[in-house]
Amino acid sequence: MKMENDTIDYPMLEAVNLSKRYEDGVLALDHVSFEVKPGEIFVMLGGNGAGKTTAINIFLNFIEPTEGEAKINGISTHLDPLRAKELAAFVSENVMLYENFTALQNLDFFASVGGKNGYTRKDYRDALLRVGLSEEAHDKKLRNFSKGMRQKCGLAIAIVKDAPAILLDEPTSGLDPQAGHEFIKLLDSLRGEGRAILMSTHDIFRAKEIADTIAILNNGRIIMQKDASEIAGRDLEDLYLQYMAGHNSEIESPTIAGV
Ligand SMILES: Nc1ncnc2c1ncn2[C@@H]1O[C@H](COP(=O)(O)OP(=O)(O)O)[C@@H](O)[C@H]1O
Ligand SMILES: [Mg+2]
Repeated sequence: MKMENDTIDYPMLEAVNLSKRYEDGVLALDHVSFEVKPGEIFVMLGGNGAGKTTAINIFLNFIEPTEGEAKINGISTHLDPLRAKELAAFVSENVMLYENFTALQNLDFFASVGGKNGYTRKDYRDALLRVGLSEEAHDKKLRNFSKGMRQKCGLAIAIVKDAPAILLDEPTSGLDPQAGHEFIKLLDSLRGEGRAILMSTHDIFRAKEIADTIAILNNGRIIMQKDASEIAGRDLEDLYLQYMAGHNSEIESPTIAGV
């Protein structure tokens, strides 16, 4: 798929009244709506249990919504999962890579599954080098990879799949500061190519560093959504705590009014 950065003004990723009630009755997502355009990074910020993973899992059709839908380039992920999945690459804490395959073999496998044939070994090597995996790692089995290396391998797959949509669940948790920074820089360069990126995090610092839009999720609802320009120069941690305080008490705190 050709991606151009200039004239695009349609959602690549879209949540429309997305709701999920698990079988045990837990309402994990409660009418969540947002969109992510090509060339944008949308960050879901929230604590444990906020509903972040649930939202991402619906985009990947690992689970179905109970109401509303998630769409990738207009394609409903639960009504047309195969077509939707072709457009998306997924990088998670437990990246779904084959442990007994080398990095090169994983790339080859996922490129083929994604319908991309005709790549050479050099193309794979270039993708792995681009994400910062040095030559000696290319022929190592994934089971010997650190978390940071797995994440990079996941992004290399996104690159060879030429996926216009990239979904990441807590991608920087557990990475040391240097690895976290490198990973964020990579996301920035993928955004520059016009990919739409949806990521979850509980890390306020990383959210502010990379997001075009930040949505604070709490109890399955978006309780705040702001563009980077509205947050610039403000203390996101203060903002986060204020919003959380407002939503966890019956009476909305007066300091929140007008924020
Ligand atoms: N498979 C499941 N069955 C029942 N409840 C679940 C399941 N997965 C998550 N939940 C619940 O849904 C809510 C949201 O969870 P999750 O999406 O994992 O949040 P986050 O990723 O933000 O930590 C939590 O209350 C969690 O306990
Ligand atoms: Mg989670």
